[in-house]
Amino acid sequence: MIKIQTRNKISPVGLDLFERNEYEVAGEISSPDAVLLRSYKLPENEIDTTVKAIARAGAGVNNIPVDACTDRGIVVFNTPGANANGVKELVIAGLLLSSRRIHEGMNWVSGQTADENLSKNVEKEKSSFAGSEISGKNIGVIGLGAIGVLVANAAVNLGMDVYGYDPFITITSAWNLSGRVKRTESLDQLMATCDYITLHLPLIPDTKNLINAEKLKAAKTGLRILNFSRGGLVDTAAVKTALNDETVSHYVTDFPDPELLGVKGVMSIPHLGASTAEAEDNCAVMAARQLQDFLENGNIVNSVNFPACSLEPADGARLIIANKNNQNMLDRILAVLAGEGLDIVDMVNKHNNGIAYSIINLSASHISAETMKQLNAIEAVVMTRQIGG
Ligand code: MLT
Repeated sequence: MIKIQTRNKISPVGLDLFERNEYEVAGEISSPDAVLLRSYKLPENEIDTTVKAIARAGAGVNNIPVDACTDRGIVVFNTPGANANGVKELVIAGLLLSSRRIHEGMNWVSGQTADENLSKNVEKEKSSFAGSEISGKNIGVIGLGAIGVLVANAAVNLGMDVYGYDPFITITSAWNLSGRVKRTESLDQLMATCDYITLHLPLIPDTKNLINAEKLKAAKTGLRILNFSRGGLVDTAAVKTALNDETVSHYVTDFPDPELLGVKGVMSIPHLGASTAEAEDNCAVMAARQLQDFLENGNIVNSVNFPACSLEPADGARLIIANKNNQNMLDRILAVLAGEGLDIVDMVNKHNNGIAYSIINLSASHISAETMKQLNAIEAVVMTRQIGG
């Protein structure tokens, strides 16, 4: 039995992909082969030594100790794009909420239960809730991955002037992006030009407090900030100051911060970006398929710490092996196989961010414990596994 430990509620549409005659799936499970989670903050000491992979049903992986996983040879997966439409739709809601005073108006109406002249008073009061339109306004989209691209294209279709900023844009994103999105090279320039900015990038040490006092100094007065990525991208104290001096008119965030609750202009949403039935199903299915392909075949798709690597199955045993990308590692691995008289039918070796990963199909139907021991003894090897045989 292959054991999958769930650390959050995961859509059954995804969990049902694990055939129960081959897989055991549960929250409480001993010695799991893999962990499947959503926003549970997983400490390193809770990761069992048996764990080979962790899949996040979502895009961000800041709740997983990724570097420690890499050192331990644990492959971490995410599901880029699977919830992008759900997040995009909530960003559009955020744009409108920060522009049209909808919730103040609705709150006022809710308080009018005893008003016998409601229709008349609505017409009298509505001027207090007038807003502005988004069409014709400038929006800067910071980060053009799966979500940023959808948001940028939707904003174009809503008649906005869209400025895109992403020094690391991929070819796929560039192909998918509307030709009407203007490329911006400098974040300061974007801040000075835009009426709205929306953040769509991961929280990593380089992006922590990306929107800080210095960036906000360059902002166009009355800027509206939309943050549906991660709270840590925005410096709380700096945005509070900017809201108080009205440099920033609204901060719409999917990550409520106690320091900002009740501050004028702050609109806090309880992390609902990906909370749609469709997004939850899509993420669960994608995470489950990726885990299965890795556990059953050793193939890697959408890992944040290991290179993408796949190989067609063959009849004999399959060796998967990962190592820190030091010199001559492949030579040393192949020397062990040759020394043990193992004939290679097919193989693939990929490396990325200092980690190399190989899938090796052998003609032999089994790799001996002695061979595995020799492979594991090679310095800088972080993971080995035999599949089949
Ligand atoms: C994401 O990283 O994609 C979201 O945080 C997913 C979620 O809401 O669980």
